[in-house]
Amino acid sequence: MKNFILINQKINNYKKNSINVEGDKSLSIRFVLLSSLSNGKSTALNLLKSEDVNSAINCIKKLGIKINLNNKKCEVFGKGLYGFKPKNNLVLNAGNSGTLARLLASLLINIVCRVKITGDQSLKKRDMSRITKPLKKFGASIKDNKGKLPIYFNKSKNLKPIVYTENLGSAQCKSAIMLAALKVKGKTKLKCLPSRNHTELMFKNVINVPIKIKKQKRYDFIEINGCKEFKPFKYKIPGDISSASFFIVLTLLSQNKYLYIRDVNINPSRTGIIKILNMMGAGIKFLNNREYKGEKIGDIYIKSRKSLKSINLKPKFNSSAIDEFLLIFLVACRCNGISTFRNLGELNKKESKRLDWGIKILKLMGVKVKRIKNNGIKIWGKSNFDLKRKITIKNFLKDHRIFMVSVVAGLSMGGSWKIHNPDSFKTSFPLFLKKLEDLGAKFR
Ligand code: S3P
Repeated sequence: MKNFILINQKINNYKKNSINVEGDKSLSIRFVLLSSLSNGKSTALNLLKSEDVNSAINCIKKLGIKINLNNKKCEVFGKGLYGFKPKNNLVLNAGNSGTLARLLASLLINIVCRVKITGDQSLKKRDMSRITKPLKKFGASIKDNKGKLPIYFNKSKNLKPIVYTENLGSAQCKSAIMLAALKVKGKTKLKCLPSRNHTELMFKNVINVPIKIKKQKRYDFIEINGCKEFKPFKYKIPGDISSASFFIVLTLLSQNKYLYIRDVNINPSRTGIIKILNMMGAGIKFLNNREYKGEKIGDIYIKSRKSLKSINLKPKFNSSAIDEFLLIFLVACRCNGISTFRNLGELNKKESKRLDWGIKILKLMGVKVKRIKNNGIKIWGKSNFDLKRKITIKNFLKDHRIFMVSVVAGLSMGGSWKIHNPDSFKTSFPLFLKKLEDLGAKFR
């Protein structure tokens, strides 16, 4: 099979105007991990069947937990908070998933033998000190490789609850501490910058463990009382807004199109992209809003817009749109005027250095773009911006979002694109190309 796809034409009229996207990745991974700690059979419907979630399933199976997966549902036969039975020198491979590596590590703090966590080339470059630091504070016995994978766990002696301040605004870091706290007797107290709150909502509304959450001005305060066993549960995973965002931006930047995206998780800690695009004049609407186990679910309505406004984005919006900035940069190319974004250092800590890649892709497209201080970026946009160039995207560490944003750029703005690693999107959104073809997109 060839190792690239070619896009030489914009998407024509949509063949349909209503789609859904696959299950939310954050919730799918959290389901697999949390259910493995419950006492009995938990069931998920609409679990995302992607490589990252598969890695989660494989790691949990290796820890001695039975999992049945078919097209309809995923059943996890949890054995309680202390039920893992790893073989000595077990190797767990988190593949490409930072969420999995970091959250899985927190489940190993009370392990009784030597276990190693590793990952692929991209994951091995990512910072693990943000979780090994608090986990060591709990008393976990961990050896890492200068803050990177692989990390090794050994039997730890006395685990104790911690008081910790999380200053990155990272949901992975916050969630790792929260999951570890489940296994430790006593009260863990966490002060953290706001980030996606799926773990809090699942603790409160799904597994019902003792948790207190207080929101104050800049920080959230979370208190967890550990060592309380919990019952198995059922969970129906809603669509992933991060996957929906590729279709939102495709529609917004194309001509004379509209689209409904059904049953998407519109948790406000994830809808930064909608707020930001609406500030740019996108007019995106949520319809049929409802609630499910604390999460907000709804349909999204979006139509193409000819005139969009540039933006000077306040960094307080960054964390709720953290996975969508490449798409937001693309929209900024079509906004009249200069758009400015700041404090985006965390983007360079993702599957690839996404801030650097955002600048690189825009430059390849012929857009004026400048890096500014404090990990910021300025983009000079034009409402009539259209592409004529030939662009090749390669060597991006198979970052799924770089692949998908390049496809959306080609289908909405034109030009001739050769995009390498056509399997990379399968970590988060295996049906991405199929869903585009169903709408009318053509690839070679
Ligand atoms: C995730 C949190 C985010 C996000 C990632 C998934 C999660 O990372 O980028 O794709 O499921 O908690 P950070 O929390 O590290 O910013």
